Amino acid sequence: MHIEPITPSFAATISDIDLSQPLTAGQVADVEQAIAKYAVLIFRDQPLTDDQHAAFTRNFGPIDKGLSKGSKRKRRLANVDVIDLANLDLEGNVLPPSNVRNVSLIANQYWHSDSSFKAPPGKFSILCGMQLPGEGGQTEFADQRAAYDALSERMKARVEGMVAEHFAYHSRDMLGGSHHTPEEMEVFPLVHWPIVHTVPESGRKSLFIGIHTREIEGMDSPEARMLLHDLLEHATQRQFVHRHEWQANDILMWDNQCTLHRGRAYDLSKLRELRRCTTEVVAEVVAQVKTQAAE
Ligand SMILES: [Fe+2]
Repeated sequence: MHIEPITPSFAATISDIDLSQPLTAGQVADVEQAIAKYAVLIFRDQPLTDDQHAAFTRNFGPIDKGLSKGSKRKRRLANVDVIDLANLDLEGNVLPPSNVRNVSLIANQYWHSDSSFKAPPGKFSILCGMQLPGEGGQTEFADQRAAYDALSERMKARVEGMVAEHFAYHSRDMLGGSHHTPEEMEVFPLVHWPIVHTVPESGRKSLFIGIHTREIEGMDSPEARMLLHDLLEHATQRQFVHRHEWQANDILMWDNQCTLHRGRAYDLSKLRELRRCTTEVVAEVVAQVKTQAAE
């Protein structure tokens, strides 16, 4: 496996590995080591079937189903571990821009951490680019470890121990297009995570915010929402951001516990087909994070 860093500590292109084949324990360890350091890995020219995509993902933890857990919508893809991020109907036609499914796809253009709104939250996401629009539709990543490191000492002291509420449908509410049902709400009760945590694999401190965060425990809404807004603005400055320009059959893998990401706008009448698999943070790590927050 060959690693080509994009910056010394954030984002790297990985080659000399075939993700369609079962990985050896040594290869899994190499990928884990690389993602602990660089947080975002880019693999070029790796066409995968859905089953290969899910099998590669399972090397790194239990599969997370994300929002599809609360959805009664009919699936286009047979493999239930793969999340369909295409603007296609069940027959494979591009959806009209006003279709309700585009609300979720547009919500992905807010800075977020996949599945931060559930317990356990998302750990690694592995996103396959199948068909991309000619213009726009890039994916951007923001390094939340570097963003934490760059906070003033005063702000570091202020946010230490703060706990934010994450709400599954906040991004959709922000778009004014929320159609979540009471049953969907029941599947995703509010969860609370520290705003600052330590990523176990690297030992580095990281911010953990994004569009799913709505309130801060023990703080009035206006002050909490403005602090979350200010932190997000800080954490997504261009010096912390890597923009990925897609080529067909690219695979991106990132650690949701120390990065934020967003898709960029594109012409909704053009086909954009991506598929994602995500792992969950394993329970012992969640327990550690909660203990850190309580200390
Ligand atoms: Fe996402």
